[in-house]
Order: sequence, then C-alpha cells, then structure tokens
Amino acid sequence: MTPEFFPLEEAIPASARIPDYLEQREYLINGKLRSWAGELNPVASPIFVKTASGLTQKIIGSTPLLTSREALEALDAAVAAYDLGHGAWPRMTVIERIEHVERFLVRMREQRTLVVNLLMWEIGKSQKDSEKEFDRTCDYILDTIRALKELDRNSSRFIEEQGIMGQIRRVPLGVALCMGPYNYPLNETFTTLFPALIMGNTVVFKPAKYGVLLIRPLLEAFRDCFPPGVINIIYGRGRETVGALMETGKLDVFAFIGTNKGANDLKKLHPKPHRMKAILGLDAKNPAIILPDADMDNAVAECVTGTLSFNGQRCTALKILFVHKTVVAEFIKRYCEAITRLKAGMPWEPGVSITPLPEPGKTDYLKGLVDDALANGARILNPGGGTIDRTYFHPTVLFPVNDKMRIYYEEQFGPVVPIVPFDSDEEPVRYVLNSHFGQQLSIFGTDSKRIARYIDDFSNQVGRINLNTQCQRGPDSFPFNGRKDSAEGTLSVADALRVFSIRTLVAAKTTEGNKKIVGQILRNRESAFLTTDYIF
Ligand code: G3H
Repeated sequence: MTPEFFPLEEAIPASARIPDYLEQREYLINGKLRSWAGELNPVASPIFVKTASGLTQKIIGSTPLLTSREALEALDAAVAAYDLGHGAWPRMTVIERIEHVERFLVRMREQRTLVVNLLMWEIGKSQKDSEKEFDRTCDYILDTIRALKELDRNSSRFIEEQGIMGQIRRVPLGVALCMGPYNYPLNETFTTLFPALIMGNTVVFKPAKYGVLLIRPLLEAFRDCFPPGVINIIYGRGRETVGALMETGKLDVFAFIGTNKGANDLKKLHPKPHRMKAILGLDAKNPAIILPDADMDNAVAECVTGTLSFNGQRCTALKILFVHKTVVAEFIKRYCEAITRLKAGMPWEPGVSITPLPEPGKTDYLKGLVDDALANGARILNPGGGTIDRTYFHPTVLFPVNDKMRIYYEEQFGPVVPIVPFDSDEEPVRYVLNSHFGQQLSIFGTDSKRIARYIDDFSNQVGRINLNTQCQRGPDSFPFNGRKDSAEGTLSVADALRVFSIRTLVAAKTTEGNKKIVGQILRNRESAFLTTDYIF
C-alpha cells in the first residue's frame, strides 16, 4: 500500500466525523446510568490519519474498565428484576413487553447516524455495510415483534388429546447473559438480546471487544424504555467480569457469539452447567466447491463477496475454496482479476470494499498464516497480495494450498484466500467430514446428479448447503446454526423466541367440573397465563 491509503484529517468528510474524543464513563445498572471513576480502556480505531509528525492511529475515546464488583451488581439487578419469575417483567403480558420494545426502537432509530459512524471508526466497516447493519437490526426487531404476536396467537387456544385439554405457552427462562462479536457488534448482539428481553428474561449485556462505543448512544434509550434491572449493560475485561458472573451459578441463559474456546472456558465456570442454556454462534471454516461445469461468472462473483466482504471477517465467509483441477487456472485468473478491481480505502469512501482491520495484532497473525503457506509450497497469485500497511492487509490469494498448511485448518477471519485444487469429488467431502467445524458450505456446478450426491454427503455435516450461492446468515427468517465447534442452538427470527423460552402448559382431564373452572378463569380474565385473549 502507498502512504496515500490513510487520509489527512481534513480530508475526512463531515458526514463521517464523530466527536473528537468520546470518553465514556457511563454504564447501566438497575435502571440508572452510573458514572465510572476508575480505569478506562482506550478505544483505538483501525484508521490512521496523516499528521505533520507522520501517520497516527486515531484514539477515538475510552470505555469503563469495570471490575467483577460492578458486574455482580448488574447481575443482582437482573436477578431481582426477574425475581424467580415473579418480577413485573416476566409476568407482564406479551403486548405490554412489545410496547416497551417498540418505544426502544423509535429511540434507537434517532441514533442511526452516530451509530453508523461509530461502526466505521471502531471496526472499519464500510458506510454501506454499516448502514445495512443498522437497518437490518431495526428490521430484525420489527420481525421479532411480528413473530411473537404470531406465536402468542397460536398459543391463545386450547388443544384436546386423549381426554385431556390443555393450553401451551412459552415462558421465559430467567436471567440471560448476552455477548456479541466485534464483526457485527450491533446486529448479532441484538439478535439475541431482543428475543431474550421480549420473551420476559432479564439481561446482563456486555458489548463486544471492539465496537463498544457504538452502544453508548443507546444507553439512555435502554434506561428509559425498560423497567429497572431488566437490561443491565456492563463493560470491562471478559475474564474478570463475565467469569465472575458465571461462577455465581445465577445465569440461566448464556447467549454468546465468539470463539468456541471462549465459550468453553466460560461455560466451565458455571457450577451447575445443566441449569444454564447456551445459545452459541462460534467459529467456522466454510468451504466452497467449484465443479468443472460451474457457471464461472457466477462462481467468481459469489466467491469474491463470499471470501472478502467485510475483509473476510464474517463467520459465514467462504474461508477455503476447493476448485476442480480442470477449471482451477481459469477460476484463479478470473478471481484475481475481479479482486484487483476491489477498492481499498477508508470506510466512508464510495464503493470501498477492503478496509483496515480492527483487531490489534491481526495483520501479524495473517502474515504468519501466509508465511507458513509459502514455506509449504504455496504462492501468492494476485498483485499486491501479502502487502501490509499498519492495520491494512491486502487481499492475498494462496495457491496451491494443502493439508500441511495452517491456513487449511485455521479460521483466518481476514482477507486471505486459500485455493485447494482437487481431482476426485471425495477430497472436499473428506475435508468437511474431518473438519472441527460444521456451519455452511457452497457448491458451484450445474450437473444435478453430482450436486445431489454432494447434498446427501453434506446434509449431516453442516447447517446449510448453498447452491451456486455464497454462504450467508440471511434471510433472517431462515434457520442459522452449525454443528461440531460451530454453534449450539438455532437462531432465526422465530427460532430465537423459542431458544430464549420454554413451554409450560396447563392441562386437565376434560371433565364437566374442570371445564367449568377453566371457563370461569377465561371469562373473568382471572389469569394472565390461562387466557384466550388474542393479539391483533
Ligand atoms: O459473522 C457472522 C454473521 O452472522 C454473518 O452474517 O452472512 O449476513 O454476513 P451474514
């Protein structure tokens, strides 16, 4: 990269600017924004700016480094608000809880510009993708409300089987800890946080490692729109804060998007793991298989976005490409041409695709993967591949990749693209069978028989098989899950409501006496649970 890559301060457009330094001291416990007087964690942007003394990394603010004490206070508030299921929130009617969430959504939309700009500055996500993340999250909350109304309508009736009548409803699980990832610090966090809340659980929420400041503009909305203790927001080092929460044994739900190692380490700390339900979105190494008869234009286009959108920092990204030997030369030529056209630059630049990486030490890690592949016989095929400029790592296409290399197994979560040539259809199958991960894969081809064989080989291995399409989470109504070290539980708009709740039923023999009691409860609206009231 040339030194021109990073901008002059004055060249940053007004629309992408954020306040000079955002010193955040506030955190939310029991409906109150408290101010932290202790140590702060500086927030370093992946973006450098040119100054008279050279390139300087932008330090855009700081966040509170709370200790286990504050974390436990947040937990106490959530435990009290849940009150063993007798708190106002878990006992509230569905329609009342929906009203709280709707109020929050109005307030959240008011913060769009600042949240989008913070996404750009904190994690380097392009403006277009940052806006998409914000809007998709608002849509997800709306869809969640719609799905809950539907669920409630379906529960508003009685069923009768074998002489027993019953009404089945979904009720909350208890106190949830929600933690999201840095690559989708708003979207993926809120896709567990809001289903957890709306089902009546109370929550301790700890924002991701990076993409933390962008929650700050929403703190007042959280405070004002939910009863005290229902949502508590803490900051600090994971080990100290979250570890302490786990050890109490008071968490009923653990919703975590991150690494399987992180999830394992934390789950082990719970003294009664069987009492804690885990919903996990973890690592993945999704392969694409490009067959000889694939539509090359489509395969290349899908693989470019599949491997490199948000610099490959998506759990669903294509992280290894198996290309049939008969077409590998053509695929590589076209793929490399296509990525040469990708624009690298600052997140706010129109049409930008490749941007600086937010994780400290990430470029060194990626360089390690590339060096290891080169030492084991791979070559870098694209112009500029392997170039590093501070937090920027230029897309790097490695070929031929084999099972001696780390990149064959490790999830790079960055713009390094390993290409494995293959002869027999068995080779990618063996790769998937032996992989520790099992999220998704993509097959590119046109021969229906061959594709069908692959579908059957893979259907017990991964959560989603994509045909002539890159891997992805959306549409959000589709199930999103994984096997092995890739996930626990299934998320989708409707599934998330299920994973944060449990079915409870009231059942009785269909006798005249019981019919009379139930009839009276319903007619006189004597119970919030046993009711046939219908939400319109
Ligand atoms: O990081 C993992 C995300 O769930 C991926 O979502 O496929 O919509 O980018 P996406």
